Amino acid sequence: KYIRVFAPGTVANLGCGFDVMGLTLDGVGDLLEIGAEEGAEGLEIRNLSGMNLPENVEDNVITPALRAMLAAYGRPVRIEITMLKKIAPGSGIGSSAASSAAAVYGLNELLDRPFSGKELVEFAMMGEALIGGTPHADNVGPAVLGGVVLIRGYEPFDIVRLPVPDNFFYAVAHPAIVVSTKDAREVLPREIPLSKAITQWGNVGGLVAGFALRDVALIGRSMHDAVVEPYRKGFIPGYDELKELVLAEGALAMNIAGSGPSVFALASDYEVAQRIAAQMKRHFQERQIGCHTYAGRV
Ligand code: HSE
Repeated sequence: KYIRVFAPGTVANLGCGFDVMGLTLDGVGDLLEIGAEEGAEGLEIRNLSGMNLPENVEDNVITPALRAMLAAYGRPVRIEITMLKKIAPGSGIGSSAASSAAAVYGLNELLDRPFSGKELVEFAMMGEALIGGTPHADNVGPAVLGGVVLIRGYEPFDIVRLPVPDNFFYAVAHPAIVVSTKDAREVLPREIPLSKAITQWGNVGGLVAGFALRDVALIGRSMHDAVVEPYRKGFIPGYDELKELVLAEGALAMNIAGSGPSVFALASDYEVAQRIAAQMKRHFQERQIGCHTYAGRV
């Protein structure tokens, strides 16, 4: 049995929601074909995406995700995967998450849905651990479930889907610089002062309320991140300057997408999102840095 699956790119963190919030990007993502044969064993991954992916199956994020799923399934399944389209690895818009999400989602369909969406997120998280050392779900959560998600807790795992406001758009820029998730996590402080924690949980509450109430202005002003952005923005040339320009152009908020180097902005108007994407491109090009941009609906 074969199936084709698309899984979207995602923006993790959403500013203040480090490791606990994320949303999907309409129109950007991974496409893969997956085949399954019950009773046989083995995993084969073919790459026709044109992107540079690890040759060794053991180094592919899909592998730990599928192994976790098969361990829970308890019966052997031979799996063949063909990567057809792939978000650029290392972009910060959930490239690894999209692959693992598509793989577990597709296999679940082929096996007649033995697992819930929440369980699929937990399997897909195992792929994230291979990349960044920590099995976080702020990319795989939205990639599997769609829309905006909050991970209320990891132990026990508790994930909540939030409503997405109508007319809610994104601009994303992926500059051609490399920031490894591992490095971007290592620069973060292990402890934060209480005053920053208060700012942060006020904003996370505001962000969740903003989505629940579909209040885009509240979402915008709650996206402020007092904990992570100050340490990571140094990886992105001219970050403060870009943010000032993008906010002046009408963005509700701008921040780093996941661990970077991509940046994202949100807007309640598609034309504004397109103008912001163009502005982001100019910003990086002026610094001799190539840049891919995307704009679309959340
Ligand atoms: N929440 C993660 C981080 C996403 O910011 O490190 C990156 O994969």
